[in-house]
Amino acid sequence: MPLFPRWTNTVSRLSGVMLLALPAVAIAGLMIVVRSTWGTKQDRVVVQPIEFDHRHHVGDEGIDCRYCHYTVEKSPYPGLPSTTICMSCHAQVWNKSPLLGLVREYHFKERPIPWNSVHNLPDFVYFNHSIHVNKGVGCVTCHGRVDQMALINQKSPLSMGWCVECHRNPEPHLRPVEFITSMTWQPDPAVDRQKLGAQLAQQYNVHTRISCDACHR
Ligand code: HEC
Ligand code: HEC
Ligand code: HEC
Ligand code: HEC
Ligand code: HEC
Repeated sequence: MPLFPRWTNTVSRLSGVMLLALPAVAIAGLMIVVRSTWGTKQDRVVVQPIEFDHRHHVGDEGIDCRYCHYTVEKSPYPGLPSTTICMSCHAQVWNKSPLLGLVREYHFKERPIPWNSVHNLPDFVYFNHSIHVNKGVGCVTCHGRVDQMALINQKSPLSMGWCVECHRNPEPHLRPVEFITSMTWQPDPAVDRQKLGAQLAQQYNVHTRISCDACHR
């Protein structure tokens, strides 16, 4: 007389198979959710509480991105400017402008401006600004001509295919780090782009990163 009736074998085998299949089912489920409801959100317009215009601040005024997004080289997150940074200029410049009324109000209440985010990766994706910036991938490569945008919109699909395509062969996308925030840098036409890419990759110790755990940790 066996300790357990025979059908329990089948049950344990079946549950084994189901356990093995579980990750695949979860992944398929994720794929359906991501592809169906979220889309890529490219070029979507996001209304902001204050009409902050990058054209005036980056294009005309030539303020470096890092003046406001000051953690972009040191941290995974680029950071958004505090009202103290806005007021470093606007206490003097355009200090009567009605468009700046709300900035003053948040500043004196010591509350951050509730900006709405434009770029949003799903939570199961790990992204890190400092790694990209320090290895020679410029803002414009992923964000486009921010200096020409009245309202920031998302220029790249931020899809897995987009990330992986560059990760497989990053060399053509690299630039010298001193031009990381330049919106207009172009490689010297006299220099072979492929050679430049290879040389920068060596200099910054750039690797291909296509294993799943690079981005899904
Ligand atoms: C380095 C100086 C500087 C900083 C920092 C700065 N601004 Fe400005 N801002 C300017 C200048 C100069 C203008 C006028 C540009 C023009 O019209 O050509 C301007 C214009 C503006 C205007 C339009 C005002 C109008 O009446 O047309 C708004 C709104 C504004 N800034 C918001 C902000 C906010 C919000 C911040 C902080 C996130 C900020 N600025 C940070 C220099 C600055
Ligand atoms: C004077 C301050 C200032 C400067 C300089 C500045 N930014 Fe910004 N940036 C902001 C503020 C404020 C926001 C939030 C409001 C918005 O989205 O427009 C923002 C938002 C963004 C966003 C969208 C964030 C999101 O919600 O996904 C990107 C991308 C960006 N900036 C890139 C850049 C780049 C690239 C440069 C340099 C070429 C730059 N910024 C220079 C203040 C600045
Ligand atoms: C390799 C592509 C890439 C590069 C290079 C890059 N970004 Fe981003 N940026 C992204 C992605 C992806 C997000 C969305 C991140 C998320 O949702 O977690 C983002 C988000 C942002 C945000 C919004 C952050 C927030 O808290 O809402 C700002 C601001 C920004 N980037 C500024 C910059 C600046 C400035 C540079 C250059 C110094 C830069 N980025 C370079 C891909 C890039
Ligand atoms: C235009 C090129 C480019 C794009 C687009 C890009 N990356 Fe990268 N990424 C790089 C380079 C170059 C590195 C540095 C690789 C190295 O040498 O470690 C890197 C490194 C990383 C790292 C660090 C990996 C590690 O193990 O240290 C992560 C995480 C990452 N990228 C995530 C992303 C995600 C997520 C996206 C898409 C939303 C993305 N990247 C889009 C070029 C790119
Ligand atoms: C360079 C970064 C990167 C690497 C490497 C990467 N992924 Fe992704 N993955 C992403 C991003 C970004 C998304 C989100 C795409 C979106 O929101 O459209 C994503 C989404 C997914 C999804 C959700 C469904 C989908 O297709 O959008 C699954 C499942 C997934 N990844 C599995 C994997 C597996 C398995 C690997 C290894 C073979 C892998 N990923 C390697 C960046 C990466």
